[in-house]
Amino acid sequence: MRVSFLLNGDKTTLNVQPNTRLIEVLRKDLALTGARPGCLYGTCGFCAILLDGELSLSCMIPAFRVNNCVVTTIEGFMETRDFRDIEIGFHRAGSVPCKFCASAKVLTTHWAITSHPTPDSDTLNRAVNAVQCRCTSYARFSNAIRYSAEVRRKRLHGRKR
Ligand code: FES
Ligand code: FES
Repeated sequence: MRVSFLLNGDKTTLNVQPNTRLIEVLRKDLALTGARPGCLYGTCGFCAILLDGELSLSCMIPAFRVNNCVVTTIEGFMETRDFRDIEIGFHRAGSVPCKFCASAKVLTTHWAITSHPTPDSDTLNRAVNAVQCRCTSYARFSNAIRYSAEVRRKRLHGRKR
């Protein structure tokens, strides 16, 4: 099957098998290894990407499904100014994700603070629980999200709240 989509700002076209998952295409065909294969059944969150701006699990998406869509992986996101907000937020919180979960935590944070510029406890719960990390405390990850949101609000609106 032929699939065309916008990947990190570049038009991308390739042939895929009907049963191929997006994570396989990203990692094997396109050498974008930021989305990590963890459980491969939609639980751990490590394979997160943005699909048309929505946080999505690339292990659960058939590759053909992204035809005419916009896909952003951590590699593309790191080129944006939005990434810098999150980098600063994590630094302020003293949160240093490992290589396995970093891309998922960054994209999850972006999704959380884009949909909820002042994230409430429900948003923080959903974001923290979206990535199955057993080695960072809830407080540290949620603080990283809150600080990232502060940085984003200040950059966009010149204020913290
Ligand atoms: S690899 Fe675990 S949710 Fe995709
Ligand atoms: S899984 Fe990466 S810091 Fe916990």
